[in-house]
Amino acid sequence: MENLDSNKPIGVFDSGIGGLTVVRQLISVLPNEDIIYFGDTARVPYGSKSNATVIEYSIQNAKFLLEHKVKAIVVACNTASSVALPALEERFNVPIIGVIIPGANHAVKSTQNKKIGIIGTRATITNKAYSTQIKTLGDDVEVFETACPLFVPLAEEGWINHDATILVAKEYLGELKSQNIDTLVLGCTHYPILSEVIKKVIGENVELIDSGVATADEVKMELEKLGLINKSNAKGSYKFYVSDVPAKFKEVAELFMGREVINVEKVELEHLQSF
Ligand code: DGL
Repeated sequence: MENLDSNKPIGVFDSGIGGLTVVRQLISVLPNEDIIYFGDTARVPYGSKSNATVIEYSIQNAKFLLEHKVKAIVVACNTASSVALPALEERFNVPIIGVIIPGANHAVKSTQNKKIGIIGTRATITNKAYSTQIKTLGDDVEVFETACPLFVPLAEEGWINHDATILVAKEYLGELKSQNIDTLVLGCTHYPILSEVIKKVIGENVELIDSGVATADEVKMELEKLGLINKSNAKGSYKFYVSDVPAKFKEVAELFMGREVINVEKVELEHLQSF
């Protein structure tokens, strides 16, 4: 494997800002790791794009991170994790960790009545990424899936407890609620921001699975297995790259990261497209 140096940073990419919910979990589990984040803010959303386009963008994003000598790549975007993981694993010689498998594992461990709901972007749901993975873990588990595309702009607007969000959540989650699920996978980077409303609508007794939490644990395990944990006692440093102007990213980032985001730099799309 390339870049097998524990001092190197972890690379994380997402279609935009949402992946910061995963970075937040990574920082809490691996506080001594340096992180390089790339958010493809010029080409977001991925959730409504074709698989071919998402794969092409994901390969470019991974190449950009590898230019920065990352020791592992975390695909924070659920949509990209749903469709691009095999293409990335085939091309690149570093550990690549997506959010689907850890999220699915966590959900199967959590369910008691074996009825799991999945919510995500249209692409994630259409590709049946979570349900396929869950079925390989337990074929007696029933899975119910719903795309909730409007949750993405609502989260970015910061409408985390707004009447409009409650209305939209009731519309999207009504069918799932009637299926008597006991576990719901938040299969999109943005949804943890709305977990309060989602819980209110789906029912307090339904366990919400944040794929970012499960993924951070998985990254830690993978790095430990490969001897790639940074041995430094110093707090990690964080650098953020975006493909559109950084201003909007910085504005919303705090909500997603739970802290101020500095060190944001723009990457020219031509650079990504040159890969
Ligand atoms: N990051 C995407 C995901 O987790 C949501 C935003 C988008 O559609 O690009 O699926």
